[in-house]
Amino acid sequence: MTTILAIESSCDETAVAISRDGREILSSVVLSQADMHALYGGVVPEIASRKHMESIVELTRQALREANLTAKDLDAVAVTYAPGLIGALLVGVGFAKGYAYANSLPLIPVHHIRGHIAANYIAFPDLTPPFVCLVASGGHTLLVDVKDYTEFEILGSTRDDAAGEAFDKCARVLGLPYPGGAAMDKLAKEGDKTRYKLPRAKIQGEELDMSFSGLKTAVINTVHHAEQVGEELNKADLAASFTEAVCDTIVPRAISACKKAGRDTFVIAGGVAANSHLRTRLNAETQKHNIKTYFPPLSLCGDNAAMIACQAYFEYQAGVRAGLDLNAYATMAIDEKGE
Ligand code: KG4
Ligand code: ZN
Repeated sequence: MTTILAIESSCDETAVAISRDGREILSSVVLSQADMHALYGGVVPEIASRKHMESIVELTRQALREANLTAKDLDAVAVTYAPGLIGALLVGVGFAKGYAYANSLPLIPVHHIRGHIAANYIAFPDLTPPFVCLVASGGHTLLVDVKDYTEFEILGSTRDDAAGEAFDKCARVLGLPYPGGAAMDKLAKEGDKTRYKLPRAKIQGEELDMSFSGLKTAVINTVHHAEQVGEELNKADLAASFTEAVCDTIVPRAISACKKAGRDTFVIAGGVAANSHLRTRLNAETQKHNIKTYFPPLSLCGDNAAMIACQAYFEYQAGVRAGLDLNAYATMAIDEKGE
């Protein structure tokens, strides 16, 4: 039996969770700072770091209390060390190191995106690699061949903005509250997706790669143009047209990625994986191609530490350990070693 306490602080959620043998989550606490950053229309890195600093000790106590455990019951401490806001990551890494040192526990470094994928192992006990996963979050959009629990190959990724970033920026110009993805999802339900003509970028020679910055700019230009000529903008139609363009970019590439990797199982992960329109489109298209899909519950799509605690178990099994000189990294590919 392996019990792991995991810390997540890569962006604006401070989270601590405890896993047992990977997939069983004994406790998971998440403190979102979203309300605070909403005042500024986006995450303010220094505020994020300071808030992590304030709450991380109490959240750890709470996770242990809820699991009815003490530090003596733990086999290891895990922490998200990349990628993310560097100041935010350093708070978690610093705390995890101190906790590991004080309790003589091994330290396991976990890649945040690997954690997002692992959220699916918690939700679906029968899910095992290999499979293809779409990871779509605020900072990343990629199609990954998950060959094994700790073996990944990037099949395609965005060349510029992440899908979530585009959702958030578009929400902002439409005057929706931060974080904008969920608000855009809701608004798009009432809109006509054919109303605004928006671009779908293609990367020549790299069919599985994506680009969302031109689409984002087109939405911003549409809003500004309407303002300048005094034309009334239909926000719901624009949200729906934007979402359709995002789906048109992602869905065919997801199918091609499964075909290219020779996988018949498809999984989604990350905050944008919560999008209802994207789920509907992916569901329909994968069914047509006889691809089995796993869509995690919304509670496991956003940032949390349960997913980190789960992935930490597989890293632990694979012999991954960090020294007390572990550093944090703002960027790191999912298939990099990071040392
Ligand atoms: O994975 P996540 O919680 O944090 C990162 O690691 O980035 O993803 C956050 C992103 C934000 O851009 C947010 O607007 C987006 O996920 N998001 C959504 C939805 N819910 C959250 N985007 C589209 N539709 C949603 N329903
Ligand atoms: Zn995330």
